[in-house]
Amino acid sequence: LKIVSTITELRTHLNSLSGVVGFVPTMGALHSGHQSLINRARLECDIVVVSAFVNPTQFLEGEDLSKYPKTEKDDDQLCKDSNVDILFRPNISDIYSRDEVSIKAPGIRGYILEGYMRPGHFDGVLQVVLKLFNIVSPKKAYFGKKDAQQLALIKQMVSNLFLSVDIVECETVRERSGLALSSRNRYLNEQEYEKAKLVSKSLFIAKSEVDKQNYSISDIKTKMKNILNGIEVQYISFVDREFQYIDQVEEGNTIILIAVKIGSTRLIDNIWV
Ligand code: PAF
Repeated sequence: LKIVSTITELRTHLNSLSGVVGFVPTMGALHSGHQSLINRARLECDIVVVSAFVNPTQFLEGEDLSKYPKTEKDDDQLCKDSNVDILFRPNISDIYSRDEVSIKAPGIRGYILEGYMRPGHFDGVLQVVLKLFNIVSPKKAYFGKKDAQQLALIKQMVSNLFLSVDIVECETVRERSGLALSSRNRYLNEQEYEKAKLVSKSLFIAKSEVDKQNYSISDIKTKMKNILNGIEVQYISFVDREFQYIDQVEEGNTIILIAVKIGSTRLIDNIWV
């Protein structure tokens, strides 16, 4: 594992290696979800690059960027254990300048759901992902389905801007309880953690309804809300795989998305049915 912080170091090291480059962009605080992306990249590519950069432009005012978990030593170890070739951990000044050309998420898909709850968030995500793609020049880049809207928007950016990188969609990794792995889970206390488990439970119930050919969104939502009793639900939404709202479940082409707030922690999850 080579750990680098500047673009020059990264490029010098990349140039000394040869083969297909697989890239896993992260904000650090790595967990088994990231590890599964890295493992897939390791299987499919000759060179695996991981970036760990807490991107300021995707945080809104009031969302405490400085509180984002930092676990650098553990991240280094996970990358070493997972046979990563290069860990790129830049400083903000390596990535951003004072006056920037910026990129805007598309009007509808970028501004519903997470884009609505966190205005500007996806502009920042796309901006940094584009920069990172240009820095690393990967053949393949790995993203989790847990951030389904982010994934859809990155795929759209790649298509709209004719970028030559393949986006590989990877399954959400869950704890045995069903809770989707997230760097934010570490903010939950014991009671909150118990509540958080109900989020995936509600999604599994939704899936079982669809499996029974219940395609009524309002009925499924009611069943989900019954399980989530006492939890602040920010949204439960049904979209197709293109991220367009739908009137009823289309089996094989639907994503059910949920956002909740438990204590001061915001969690999102989804299930593809
Ligand atoms: O999913 C994340 O961790 C971030 O949004 C990403 C893609 C690394 C961009 O900062």
